[in-house]
Amino acid sequence: MQAPLWLQMAQSQWHPPPLISLFLFLFLSLSFPSSLENPSPQFSCKPPHDCYPFCNSSLPTKIRAQDLLSRLFLSDKILQLSNGAASIPHLGIPAYEWWSESLHGLAPNGPGVTFNGSVTSATIFPQVILSTSSFNSSLWFSLASSIGDEARAMHNVGQAGLTFWAPNINIFRDPRWGRGQETCGEDPLVASVYAVEYVRGFQGEPEFEGLDDELMRDKRILIPRDSKLKLSACCKHFTAYDLENAENVTRYTFNAKVSKQDLEDTYQPPFKSCIQDGHASCLMCSYNQLNGIPSCARYDLLTQTARNEWGFEGYITSDCDAVAVIYEDQRYAPSPEDAVADVLKAGMDINCGTYLLRYTAFAVEQGKVVESDIDRALLNLFSVQIRLGLFDGFPNKQRFAGLGPNDVCNAKHRKLALEATRQGIVLLKNTKSFLPLTKSKVSSMAIIGPAAHNASLLNGDYSGTPCNPTTLFEGLRTYVKNTAYSLGCLDIACESSDGFGEAIDVAKTADIVAVVAGLDLTQETEDHDRVSLILPGKQRGLITSIAHASKGPVILILVGGGPIDVSFTKEDPRIASILWIGYPGETGGEAVAEVLFGDVNPGGRLPVTWYPESFTSVPMTDMNMRPDPSRGYPGRTYRFYTGEVVYPFGHGLSYSEFSYEFLSLPKFLSVPKVELLSSTPDTLRTNQVDYIYIEEVETCEALRFYVRVSVLNDGGMDGSHVVLLYSKSPARISGAPKKQLIGFKRVHTKSKQPTEAVFFVNPCENLSNVNEHGERVLEIGNHVLMVGNVEHLMVVGS
Ligand SMILES: *[C@@H]1O[C@H](CO)[C@@H](O)[C@H](O)[C@H]1NC(C)=O
Ligand SMILES: *[C@@H]1O[C@H](CO)[C@@H](O)[C@H](O)[C@H]1NC(C)=O
Ligand SMILES: *[C@@H]1O[C@H](CO)[C@@H](O)[C@H](O)[C@H]1NC(C)=O
Ligand SMILES: *[C@@H]1O[C@H](CO)[C@@H](O)[C@H](O)[C@H]1NC(C)=O
Ligand SMILES: *[C@@H]1O[C@H](CO)[C@@H](O)[C@H](O)[C@H]1NC(C)=O
Ligand SMILES: *[C@@H]1O[C@H](CO)[C@@H](O)[C@H](O)[C@H]1NC(C)=O
Repeated sequence: MQAPLWLQMAQSQWHPPPLISLFLFLFLSLSFPSSLENPSPQFSCKPPHDCYPFCNSSLPTKIRAQDLLSRLFLSDKILQLSNGAASIPHLGIPAYEWWSESLHGLAPNGPGVTFNGSVTSATIFPQVILSTSSFNSSLWFSLASSIGDEARAMHNVGQAGLTFWAPNINIFRDPRWGRGQETCGEDPLVASVYAVEYVRGFQGEPEFEGLDDELMRDKRILIPRDSKLKLSACCKHFTAYDLENAENVTRYTFNAKVSKQDLEDTYQPPFKSCIQDGHASCLMCSYNQLNGIPSCARYDLLTQTARNEWGFEGYITSDCDAVAVIYEDQRYAPSPEDAVADVLKAGMDINCGTYLLRYTAFAVEQGKVVESDIDRALLNLFSVQIRLGLFDGFPNKQRFAGLGPNDVCNAKHRKLALEATRQGIVLLKNTKSFLPLTKSKVSSMAIIGPAAHNASLLNGDYSGTPCNPTTLFEGLRTYVKNTAYSLGCLDIACESSDGFGEAIDVAKTADIVAVVAGLDLTQETEDHDRVSLILPGKQRGLITSIAHASKGPVILILVGGGPIDVSFTKEDPRIASILWIGYPGETGGEAVAEVLFGDVNPGGRLPVTWYPESFTSVPMTDMNMRPDPSRGYPGRTYRFYTGEVVYPFGHGLSYSEFSYEFLSLPKFLSVPKVELLSSTPDTLRTNQVDYIYIEEVETCEALRFYVRVSVLNDGGMDGSHVVLLYSKSPARISGAPKKQLIGFKRVHTKSKQPTEAVFFVNPCENLSNVNEHGERVLEIGNHVLMVGNVEHLMVVGS
């Protein structure tokens, strides 16, 4: 989302005219003196501008939007097509900044969020990749809802907008991707569920309150999609965007070549869910091209798929300067005006950047754009603003007016951030139950590494100013007073071993030694992919020299979003235990110490495959999920990848052990079929593969069944545990996944006691595959359901 510098500068020229802002500010201050202590955002529909139908909250959204539109001149309209939408003085409408960020807390990456008013910090929840590792969908909802409270509170004091550009739901397809940390990992189901929880929690649509998930899915179509919004969330980046810069290709010019099969069963599902089940009110089209056409210029994606097929109600923004790149970088359009015409005709509504401000009038003059193209876009934009209450008059009378500075950085959010970090941390290795440590038996500790006593490094990208950050060193000291610390390396790049000597001296004297290694934003971030999966610089040398010198085996703590090849640690008995802590945010220090000392039993699981360094021979630009042995291509993610792994998707240990048993499950599933006139002739069913098109299934709802799994905690410690339910289809369809996650549940378990995890499976959605034509089909034959190493065979027949 970061614009190239020259574009950012261009953008800054388009801020609202200062005189108008000043006038509005003075007017506000004079009319409502109390707003001086607690400044409120500028607002529309203030006397004498409150009599228009668009200000009348009893009228339907569409009517209000139409009314507003009907009062605008073409020149006004064009000024609304940018993230920095201009004021409309003759209607008393102030300027509006569409671009605010809230990925894992409020962040000033977009101009809509500032920390220079009465709110100077906001809670930094763990980076998304770590919250994802909790595999706890109700946690994801709570996180989004709390971020939403902070967002609305900051809006109420004029420090944030109401339209936020999160979540990032692209598939973490390549371990080198610099923005993989922002995502929910590599699995389409996990990303879909995350997307829905985030959007529902954040947007606070009243229609969702008290509705259970299954009911929701049944009523999907019936629930109105234009209800009032607390905030607007955005599904980004649509679609197949998951590369910053690799092999001399940047995200601005990348042409993602994606097969129909991969698009349908990997890249699109999170977006489909985000819209259909989450009711997201924003969609962001990405920089990249999809099969030769820029995403933002694809009518088939934006209008046919998202709006018409999935029922999207909301606005579509470009990524920042994604319209400019269509002409400037990609040379896809022959002129700037053609680029503008392409995106407006495709269904994009607003441009992050200034390209539409600069070129739309010319495009109209040249007949490439007609006014109704602009009207279409504005109706979508105004509708979202109306649903957000921006035209309901005085904001202090509105639904969320009660939220203020006390709702930011409060104890509740701090506790939730800590809870999320605890739930996300993944125990990768724990030889001979080295962990947990017993507090009474540890009289001294040492913590070594450039990330050991650095709070900002723990935040990850898209972070604001934390409320009350703790470092890992500080966290340990609350358990063991006599804890020493040494940098070892100057920074994460670790180019020199100059600090090793001191670090070794510090480690030698301690009972227990932890080494902190891994990544930070100098290695992986927006606009910056890694080229290697091994630890940066001399970090490996630091780990092994400390492990050699210390009295006993050491604990390795890995920081970072992307997978790291730490194969060298696997067989090394001097590295007893390994924790992966992602970017834990401001509560990292506390949570890590709690896990080390067993006050928290770790239960996180890796949401991405950890590949070995050899994977870097795979071109990052290759979007294929499926392996291709003829060219030595190993495929991607646990569903397809055929090579060795360092740690598999879903890996994560506990201080307890667990075993499973399937309780009740059908052995046979009979699928009644209806003949469809439009269905593909049987001659196209190649190789006699026996399957049923999902559209041919008489009623999917009637086929749903429960899977009850008993989880026994065989260990000595209570703890929450993630149950991952997979299915394996007969796999006679070309390109069928090796296995597919079809459900996940995090459950509380008690030592030596069984717990039940219940899944509700819809065979059409959960047991189906996508064929090479991108069609969803249910294979006839033996399907296997799996939890851990327990399997259940189920025959699907027609
Ligand atoms: C708002 O619209 C409603 C419904 O049409 C109407 O009854 C009411 O008079 C309108 N209010 C104002 C202030 O115009
Ligand atoms: C905060 O920063 C924004 C953006 O730089 C600026 O427009 C605004 O005036 C500042 N507010 C205060 C209270 O300084
Ligand atoms: C990238 O460009 C540089 C300089 O033009 C060239 O030396 C290098 O071989 C290119 N790398 C790839 C992977 O194409
Ligand atoms: C913490 O790490 C960041 C890089 O991630 C670096 O910029 C910063 O200087 C470090 N802070 C301290 C106090 O070393
Ligand atoms: C089945 O698929 C749907 C749609 O992708 C998903 O929401 C649901 O969580 C899946 N799993 C189960 C066990 O129902
Ligand atoms: C899931 O997260 C919620 C919210 O923090 C928490 O209350 C619940 O205990 C968690 N569930 C498990 C099984 O850990």
